[in-house]
Amino acid sequence: MYKEFTHGARVLPVLRDVNLTLMPGEMVTIIGASGAGKSTLLHCLGTLDLPTRGQILFGDTDITRFSPPQLASFRNETIGFVFQFHHLLGEFTALENAMMPALIGRVAHKEARERAGDMLHAVGLSHRLNHRPGELSGGEQQRVAIARALVMRPRLLLADEPTGNLDTRTSDEVHDLLFRINDEHKMTLLVVTHNMDLAWKVPRRIRMEDGKLVDDVRHDPSAAREPPPAGTSRSS
Ligand SMILES: Nc1ncnc2c1ncn2[C@@H]1O[C@H](COP(=O)(O)OP(=O)(O)O)[C@@H](O)[C@H]1O
Ligand SMILES: [Mg+2]
Repeated sequence: MYKEFTHGARVLPVLRDVNLTLMPGEMVTIIGASGAGKSTLLHCLGTLDLPTRGQILFGDTDITRFSPPQLASFRNETIGFVFQFHHLLGEFTALENAMMPALIGRVAHKEARERAGDMLHAVGLSHRLNHRPGELSGGEQQRVAIARALVMRPRLLLADEPTGNLDTRTSDEVHDLLFRINDEHKMTLLVVTHNMDLAWKVPRRIRMEDGKLVDDVRHDPSAAREPPPAGTSRSS
């Protein structure tokens, strides 16, 4: 697929001839410099934006042909998002925030509450259901955002630098959580990250450069690993 942004007469190509197949249940990281097009790719895969040209197939269905209302309900039922900044609603509790996609998806209130409670339990926050985001730590806020992303039991979870804003120890906890939910819920998980520790732990790693996928490596995370190349950022 291709994605271009147009500013007046100028056309900025951002995704260029991107071909990517994700297998159900697979966990994949995307790395690459800032501006490489990682977030744009996630937005297109997540149907928040449409490619300028090309198809996005979920199974046999080309979702680029969907009408906006079809896209909205497809997105709500099928895709979960976790962003760098959690985007929780400050005036609502953890439980209410996690319920939100289910309420939007017209799940009955009681059922939505139960599912959100279960997901918050799964991310280790049973004791924080009635706290507002401002009363939670950064790691807890991001775990609420993950619970919210999972409440509709999406087949695809997209995470855009989910630990970019967290300290090392909290990042490790969130990464462990992502591994566990990928394993338990069997959804496909695509994570954009600058965290090379995570990129080394995940069995498939894609590198983007200037709008292209330049590397798509499958490796065995349990095998002895070579040191990351010199100059590779291990922060964030
Ligand atoms: N809505 C937009 N309008 C115009 N240009 C955009 C828009 N979104 C992203 N871009 C440009 O596309 C390029 C890739 O951005 P992005 O996908 O956010 O990269 P990354 O997530 O890898 O840092 C950048 O040059 C950015 O300025
Ligand atoms: Mg980005």
